[in-house]
Amino acid sequence: MRYIGTRITSTVHEKIAQCLEESEMSMETVTQNIRKVDNRTQVGKMNSYPFEGNRDMEAVLELLLTCKANKSIDHFLPFMLRLVLTPSSLLSSTSIDLGTDVRFWKKHDGTVCGFALVDLSVWGLFYLVSPSEEGGELEQEILSWACNRTSHISRGESITLRCRRVREDNSKRISSLARQGFRRDTDREGLRMVRPLDVPLDEPLMPRGFKIRHLSGPDDIDAYVALVNSAIPEATSVETHQRWIKTPEYIPELDLIAVADDGTFAAFCQSYYDPLDLARSTRREGWTDPIGTAPAYRKKGLARAIVLEALWRLKRRGIEDAVLGVAGSNEAAQKLYESIGYRVIYKMYDYVKVL
Ligand SMILES: CC(C)(COP(=O)(O)OP(=O)(O)OC[C@H]1O[C@@H](n2cnc3c(N)ncnc32)[C@H](O)[C@@H]1OP(=O)(O)O)[C@@H](O)C(=O)NCCC(=O)NCCS
Repeated sequence: MRYIGTRITSTVHEKIAQCLEESEMSMETVTQNIRKVDNRTQVGKMNSYPFEGNRDMEAVLELLLTCKANKSIDHFLPFMLRLVLTPSSLLSSTSIDLGTDVRFWKKHDGTVCGFALVDLSVWGLFYLVSPSEEGGELEQEILSWACNRTSHISRGESITLRCRRVREDNSKRISSLARQGFRRDTDREGLRMVRPLDVPLDEPLMPRGFKIRHLSGPDDIDAYVALVNSAIPEATSVETHQRWIKTPEYIPELDLIAVADDGTFAAFCQSYYDPLDLARSTRREGWTDPIGTAPAYRKKGLARAIVLEALWRLKRRGIEDAVLGVAGSNEAAQKLYESIGYRVIYKMYDYVKVL
């Protein structure tokens, strides 16, 4: 017997037999039990399940951090994915149906060994496989599920599924994607850069006529958003920043701006860190991202000064590595970061498949 996207396994038959044997069980209970089993699929020695929110979060986070430690995934993923899946968070996506668009795979001993999320409006495809399963049958199963799910959501209309931030040094993931017909989007090269903070760090040298301070609260938001969008078009909105400053991850002292003597906001550097990642990773990582200077104030040393100030603030909070992302095509920013001591640790590309 076949169901769409679901293979009926021997466990279903066992469950039916067990239900029927227990004669007090009503037919309704039997049907419910069949549905429970039918809602999972099996690949080799693994079953897959719909994601049920907080209950499954801990196990998925464990897998995320294992994959990160194994250098299988981009550094930003643990923080981002946690925010995407937390309903009240800044990044939570209203377009994701947790029950159908997010799935995880477990071994028979209960260990979570795979995870996938499909969100066509913003995030595309994100998936994880435990290091021992990389490049194998499970990864193929996950990618097939994601493609089927995408076709289902798009109701058969042609659509591009985008798997973001694939590390160039993860050859197993790249071959798995290629086997499923994904190709590299060479237009979108990203660089992950790191600046260790346990080696000497220059003091920030502020150009005359400017000072650095952190955002003082909601009154600054309109001017702040205008500044950010003048440097990086359409990067943010008043609403997004208002939500961000209310999240537990937001630390006002790390939301820096360079202000001219006449009060104009000239440059910014947003820093933060993920407390969860900090608690479990071997190196304590913080982020300086995004960074920018309004066009009229460039080439005065403002970005350099504000990033250095941010790095000192992170260092004083016990952060050991400052991390950021930059587009491969953004030479000005790369030069700035290199001059401060950041080095590229890997390149990343999106992989796309037209379905
Ligand atoms: C990249 C950016 C932040 C630089 O800001 P800035 O205030 O002009 O930078 P600074 O004056 O502090 O420059 C510091 C160093 O960066 C490098 N740099 C800055 N602008 C550069 C440019 N246009 N070309 C080459 N190198 C550049 C230089 O090494 C410079 O040192 P130098 O002046 O001794 O040569 C700014 O151009 C910007 O906002 N760009 C758009 C937003 C962006 O790309 N942000 C980064 C990605 S999130």
